[in-house]
Amino acid sequence: MSGLEHWEDCYQKKDTPWDKGEPSPGLVDFLQGQDRLDLGSVCVPGCGMGHDALAWAAKGFQVTGVDLAPTAVEGARANASEQPHACSFESANFLDDSPKLPFDWVFEHTFYCAIKPERRPDYLQAMKRWIKPSGFLLAVHYLIPGEDGPPFGTTRDEVFNRFSTDFELVKEWVPRSYPNRKGLERMFWWQKPN
Ligand SMILES: C[S@@+](CC[C@H](N)C(=O)[O-])C[C@H]1O[C@@H](n2cnc3c(N)ncnc32)[C@H](O)[C@@H]1O
Repeated sequence: MSGLEHWEDCYQKKDTPWDKGEPSPGLVDFLQGQDRLDLGSVCVPGCGMGHDALAWAAKGFQVTGVDLAPTAVEGARANASEQPHACSFESANFLDDSPKLPFDWVFEHTFYCAIKPERRPDYLQAMKRWIKPSGFLLAVHYLIPGEDGPPFGTTRDEVFNRFSTDFELVKEWVPRSYPNRKGLERMFWWQKPN
């Protein structure tokens, strides 16, 4: 089964245990605590049903959610139609495609752990394509052990070593999490050099 078939099958069968029906608590706290951020464009890759993308849109950012699975994109559009804030969703392969224009921000949540570990170098290259010079990558990583996935395991050091080659760390911290992920998440805020 290809990656597209796998994820599409999950959404069609409603086998989506990662979907909590609300945005990441770490993102909610970040957006509440950052009143001085310049409003700009945001891409949310692996956006699923769009909860995180809609949280950015509610703050006034211009948001595009991207997902491989057409049923996720349809679901995200349906969720967006119930909200007053504009937010667009597109079917795309974030790892292989390029944006029409790079973004001021990319926000990711449970996407890195969803892709096969051998594609992590492609993930880094994709981030470099999708983010503008001086733009930001904000990520909520799920730090679990294990090589069978998704979710595929990673550690704080694996994440740090991979991204610090091409991005400058602004801050990292342990966020508030959903109850079943408490203590298992870490947020990284990176800036792409100019
Ligand atoms: C574990 S889910 C997380 C969804 C969402 N971020 C959330 O937390 O609810 C991983 C998501 O990544 C999407 N995905 C997997 N590979 C992708 C790719 N190469 N490009 C875009 N989306 C992808 C899947 O369809 C799925 O919606």
